[in-house]
Amino acid sequence: MSGGSERTHFGYESVPLEDKQGRVKDVFHSVSRRYDLMNDLMSGGLHRAWKDALVSAVNPPKNDCEFAVLDLAGGTGDIGLRILRAGGAGTRVTICDINPDMLEVGRERAAERALDGVVTFEQGNAEDLSYADRSFDCVTIAFGIRNVPRIERALEEAYRVLKIGGRFLCLEFSSVDVPGLDALYELYSFQVIPRIGGAVTGNREAYQYLVESIRKFPKPNVFAHMIEGAGFRRVSYTAMTGGVVALHSGWRL
Ligand SMILES: C[S@@+](CC[C@H](N)C(=O)[O-])C[C@H]1O[C@@H](n2cnc3c(N)ncnc32)[C@H](O)[C@@H]1O
Repeated sequence: MSGGSERTHFGYESVPLEDKQGRVKDVFHSVSRRYDLMNDLMSGGLHRAWKDALVSAVNPPKNDCEFAVLDLAGGTGDIGLRILRAGGAGTRVTICDINPDMLEVGRERAAERALDGVVTFEQGNAEDLSYADRSFDCVTIAFGIRNVPRIERALEEAYRVLKIGGRFLCLEFSSVDVPGLDALYELYSFQVIPRIGGAVTGNREAYQYLVESIRKFPKPNVFAHMIEGAGFRRVSYTAMTGGVVALHSGWRL
């Protein structure tokens, strides 16, 4: 623990701001090897459709035009590898994540698929990127922003490294607002997900954090304003599966 006065939340727990990143790191360290399996089990495979919607919005060119994508909090590379599959010979993906264990799983997956020549895995903090200004055509982040302690800083960094005319796309859990579905979703989230997480990864707390952190994340309209606050224009969002997730988009113009 540290003595700083600024606080934030880690799930429903209030923690010093500077402690959150370490706690998040522990979560993903412990679940990295079972992370992708858990996504399928928890979402009944729906995460694939949500990720496909993100990749469609990225719309990488099918030809050999150069197209550089930065996937923030890219973890095991699921988004990055999907973008590469959808794009042509000019598409390059940099996967940046703070957690070396998640990146290692991603490196192995990329090598198995012989994609290691077109994808780079780099350890880095979304709040403080090492890339030059205006170096990417597209910046994506999927199910990552919720885990970043200083969300505004990460949005500003995404804006900084985007080229003019580039697009920011963020896929994140959101708020279910369909009567009936909301109660069912609450029940499933709090009664089922931590149990599956505990059985599959041995870390029930990690999945308790997941469901709590989703509830603490700003509503989609509030998050859209945060994206605008970082300088993005033409900000919009689309809710999917009754609001279980939302895809936010903004342009650097
Ligand atoms: C739920 S996983 C998402 C992984 C991947 N994007 C996907 O959709 O499968 C969240 C990821 O965010 C990463 N993360 C958390 N805080 C971060 C930060 N400040 N900078 C970069 N990555 C971070 C974690 O290490 C973890 O790999």
